[in-house]
Amino acid sequence: ALPGGASRLLLGRHVVITAGPTHEAIDPVRYIANRSSGKQGFAIAEAAARMGAQVTLIAGPVQLPTPPGVTRVNVESARQMADAVQSALPADVAVMVAAVADWRVADAATQKLKKDGTGQIPPLYLVENPDILAGLCADPRRPRLVVGFAAETQDVIPHAQSKLIRKGADWIIANDVSGAPGNSVMGGDRNAVHIVSASGVESLPDAPKPAIASAIVERIARALV
Ligand code: CTP
Ligand code: CA
Repeated sequence: ALPGGASRLLLGRHVVITAGPTHEAIDPVRYIANRSSGKQGFAIAEAAARMGAQVTLIAGPVQLPTPPGVTRVNVESARQMADAVQSALPADVAVMVAAVADWRVADAATQKLKKDGTGQIPPLYLVENPDILAGLCADPRRPRLVVGFAAETQDVIPHAQSKLIRKGADWIIANDVSGAPGNSVMGGDRNAVHIVSASGVESLPDAPKPAIASAIVERIARALV
């Protein structure tokens, strides 16, 4: 047997993972973003590859190194991320960890916005981005197991339960992202999550993101048996 062969439970499975923030252009030099670091999603990609999966990691703009054995597709915007997910199908599992920007500027400027000298401030008209997770759940090529994440600052489990139903995912993994910038799950190295599914809630206590990733990927492998 190969070393580690006993734990290669995802051999032959294709796992698509989104990670990181998206950037939504305001003009050629400015964008709307969020504090997602991509660390949790990259750690899940690494853990899945270690368990033998073929992994497609669709990464928003982050500087993290590509985990060994992972196929990485870099994107900037939510709409590019949605297209990349479609191009990655078919898949056995999708894990949508990305903190997708909910809104983009309706009509991004093609030239840099300039102060006009009168103190007039340019308005930014926002429109909603496509919901990549909900779209995938409704897709005829829906992977067998679709896992979403939920970033919440209050009422974490109830909000995750309503997202589970609204989006049609199999699991929603909720994390509490309250806490001051610099002292938060978003951008930090540790996480505590609640795995919410139709059969209940399993809570994984605070641990380094790679340990949370391994625990999640083990549960994914078990769910496919
Ligand atoms: N998601 C997505 N596409 C979007 C917004 C979110 O695929 N346009 C996915 C995220 O990757 C995550 C899940 O949906 O897996 C939940 O994201 P979250 O931001 O918590 O939920 P929203 O539905 O955007 O609700 P809100 O931000 O208002 O809480
Ligand atoms: Ca959101």
